[in-house]
Order: sequence, then C-alpha cells, then structure tokens
Amino acid sequence: MSKRNVSRRQFLNYTLTGVGGFMAAGILMPMVRFAIDPVLKASASGGFIATSQKVSELTAEPIRVDYTFDQIDGWYESQVTNTAWVYKADDGNIVALSPVCKHLGCTVAWNTDKEHPEQFFCPCHMGRYEKSGVNVPGTPPSKPLDVYETQVKDGILYLGLLKPHKGA
Ligand code: FES
Repeated sequence: MSKRNVSRRQFLNYTLTGVGGFMAAGILMPMVRFAIDPVLKASASGGFIATSQKVSELTAEPIRVDYTFDQIDGWYESQVTNTAWVYKADDGNIVALSPVCKHLGCTVAWNTDKEHPEQFFCPCHMGRYEKSGVNVPGTPPSKPLDVYETQVKDGILYLGLLKPHKGA
C-alpha cells in the first residue's frame, strides 16, 4: 500500500479549487438559465385559446368575450386578459373582431353611439366601424378591425391569431 503525502499547499489548492468551482457554478447556472430560458420554452403562438363562451349562445348581436392566457415576455411570465367582439354572421360563421381601434389603439365598443346605432364606436376620436368591422369612411380609422381566427371545440369558442380584415 503506497502512502501519498499531500502537502499543505496542495491540500489548500484542491480545497479552494473545489469550493471556488462550486460557488462559481452556483452563481453562473442561474444566469445561464436566465439568459436562455425563453429559447428553451415551447412557444404557444399559433395555438388557439379557449374562451368561456358557448357557441350555442352566440347570436347576430356582437357580445364582448374575454379570454385569458399565459404570456411569456422574455423571462417574465404573466396572465393576460384580452377581449374580442363576437357574433354569428348571416351565413352562420362566427365573426370575432379585435376591440383595438385601428386609428390610435383605443378600445371600441358595440352600439354605444346613439347617433350611429348598430356600429362599433371608438370614443377617443369618434371612430366608427360597421358591424362587419369595416371602418366607416370619413371617420378617423383608415383600416378595418383585425379579425381573430376561430375554432369550435365541444361547443366552446376558441380564439386564435389576429389577422388583417379581408375587407381591408
Ligand atoms: S383611437 Fe379610435 S378613433 Fe382615434
């Protein structure tokens, strides 16, 4: 059996190297994870998000439908609630419109302007849109409201990506 002598200097070198490496890993690992975490997470974009809206309850009258989803912004994760104006068109198709005004981004509401009933109205600069989402000429918005992709699963409305209005 060979006897190896470790000098005091070697012992200190080994010990300090081990402790230093352990501490460096403890500091660096969270930083590395912090930097690359969003890259490693699967993106939910392109997916449809369930609302609580039963499709059987939709009528020709636009109603406000809220939906909530997890948003990952870099390393920050939060719950976001958005809104769509949803109704059944004459052909039976579901129409889901963005409430964001195409003028300067205020929120439009259905049928709130007494002088122009049955239209979407933006109170910020009196912007108006037809029920289809097409902007009324002569009012500030220069484009129609964006349109959500929609899906129906088990009688529940799902909303997808926002797309430019086809009437644009
Ligand atoms: S922001 Fe809607 S009309 Fe200006």
